[in-house]
Amino acid sequence: MITIKELDAFEVLDSRGNPTICVKATLSDGNSGNAIVPSGASTGKREALELRDKDESRFVGKGVLKACANVTEIIARELIGINAHRQTHIDSILQHIDNTDNYAKLGANATLGVSMAIARASAHSLNIPLFQYLGGINGVNLPAPMLNIINGGSHADNNVDFQEYMIMPLGFDCFKRALRASVEIYHTLKKILNENNLSTGVGDEGGFAPNLKNNEEPITYILKAIEKAGYKPGEEISIALDVASSEFYKDGIYYLKGENKKLDSKGLVEYYENLTAKYPIVSIEDGLSEDDWNGWAYLTEQLGNKIQLVGDDLFVTNTKILQKGINKKIANAILIKPNQIGTVTQTLEAIRLAHKNGYKTIISHRSGESEDTFIADLSVAVNAGEIKTGAPARGERNAKYNRLLELRHYNKLLTYEAQNLFKK
Ligand code: PGA
Ligand code: ZN
Repeated sequence: MITIKELDAFEVLDSRGNPTICVKATLSDGNSGNAIVPSGASTGKREALELRDKDESRFVGKGVLKACANVTEIIARELIGINAHRQTHIDSILQHIDNTDNYAKLGANATLGVSMAIARASAHSLNIPLFQYLGGINGVNLPAPMLNIINGGSHADNNVDFQEYMIMPLGFDCFKRALRASVEIYHTLKKILNENNLSTGVGDEGGFAPNLKNNEEPITYILKAIEKAGYKPGEEISIALDVASSEFYKDGIYYLKGENKKLDSKGLVEYYENLTAKYPIVSIEDGLSEDDWNGWAYLTEQLGNKIQLVGDDLFVTNTKILQKGINKKIANAILIKPNQIGTVTQTLEAIRLAHKNGYKTIISHRSGESEDTFIADLSVAVNAGEIKTGAPARGERNAKYNRLLELRHYNKLLTYEAQNLFKK
């Protein structure tokens, strides 16, 4: 039996220059694995706790030394000597030690770091790639990427209310070819923005954040870029939005500052109906607020059989909340962010529950990321179908694309089935 021999943890930096936790798990056979936990900015209210030191004298309060100490002083005591390959058992011990439903004591950054590091160390000790450790022989499909190429919302200093404008290369039968098309469109977009004297500085996830007039203009620029790069909008390249509407929702009203509009849920749903009739939009994430469940039911009724409706802040990778959504017929897809829930096992449970109920799954990065590529392997392991990991720019975003390219290179039988993703 291969057991957990040592758990170590230390502070490293994420892509925004904030400290985050890196956990190293060493096993009895000498193999080890590291994992770095990402961090969100537009977080859902019901996410598991990200433990920060709040000691203003270090890293403006964002240090994670307490989370590190929880790994080395509390978690290690319980996990050392345990069979390293029993991931479900290990993760249930983490839940048991913490004994809250959101890792309020240990911090989900501590528990997820441990959970991912042990999975990776176990893959090393079995001498198989991480995606095979997580998915066995069942993980065969490379995900369709959603690439965030224009930013608005609270992440950008412009008049755009929606947070992310993404392209999805759905009209290809090869991951490499699909990614290449997306990269070419990204560079073409940069050129077009330049020609229009618009800023091409990039946001946290690598997308451009030009000062545009309203919420539609980003779409028209993206369509121009798709065509100029030689691709067909709608046929080869589709558009996906992450509205992140919880950010501009207050007391039943959605405030679209960019367009000087105040809309109720119905009004915003109508707005989406117009947009989707006009443009090749295949997916809208967090179209309504995490607190507007009645609105969500209406949104799903109106658009649920036409496009993908994704719950991110809405479901926070939580099976209890997702089950409620399933019961109420809300949304038809879930964004999966492991650090919203706190362990690998609970992440897999959310994915299984979604698939069992016909909900699509999108494995996702956070706006604060690192070179850790765990989510790339996870997306293949569970045949997630989709991955959201930013623009094809910035090292921490491309690390995930590069990992998928590596998996594709060494596993020629992995498929890319984006063309079937939204087939009716
Ligand atoms: P994040 O947001 O800043 O919480 O990672 C990304 C998203 O809303 O999908
Ligand atoms: Zn989101």
